[in-house]
Amino acid sequence: MDALKVVFVVLHLLGLLAIVGSVVVRRGVPTPWLVWGARAQIITGLVLVGINEAGDGDVNHTKIGVKLLVALAVAACAEIAAGRERRGQGEPRLVHAAGALAIINALIATLWT
Ligand code: HEM
Repeated sequence: MDALKVVFVVLHLLGLLAIVGSVVVRRGVPTPWLVWGARAQIITGLVLVGINEAGDGDVNHTKIGVKLLVALAVAACAEIAAGRERRGQGEPRLVHAAGALAIINALIATLWT
């Protein structure tokens, strides 16, 4: 694995850690870790696709499409939860949904071969 790919895989895993860590530590509260983690997953994931396409890595486009949809849902839950929190209308269910969907995406990443 070349150095650039290692960097982005690590950033991708840190994004997952930020989302799940935030949901576990600050139950029901949309922290900046959650929101930025969700954004980071989309950016680092797309960069990883680019790196794999450019190199000799195999890209399963169906799997990537599903992961992108789930990641967009994670980001939507996080952004809406953060927006509501700012208006004093906290919605813990959206935060938990973001965490659960992120774990589903990690399972898709590892189990879908
Ligand atoms: C919440 C969102 C996401 C989570 C939790 C997540 C999780 C993961 C995890 C745990 C891995 C490591 C799997 C392994 O190396 O065995 C991985 C790899 C990968 N993810 Fe994601 N992912 C997310 C979003 C995305 C998105 C949106 C894309 C692209 C559109 C993407 C593209 C990739 C690619 C290409 C790899 C493989 C890297 C390699 O070749 O080793 N991911 N993801």
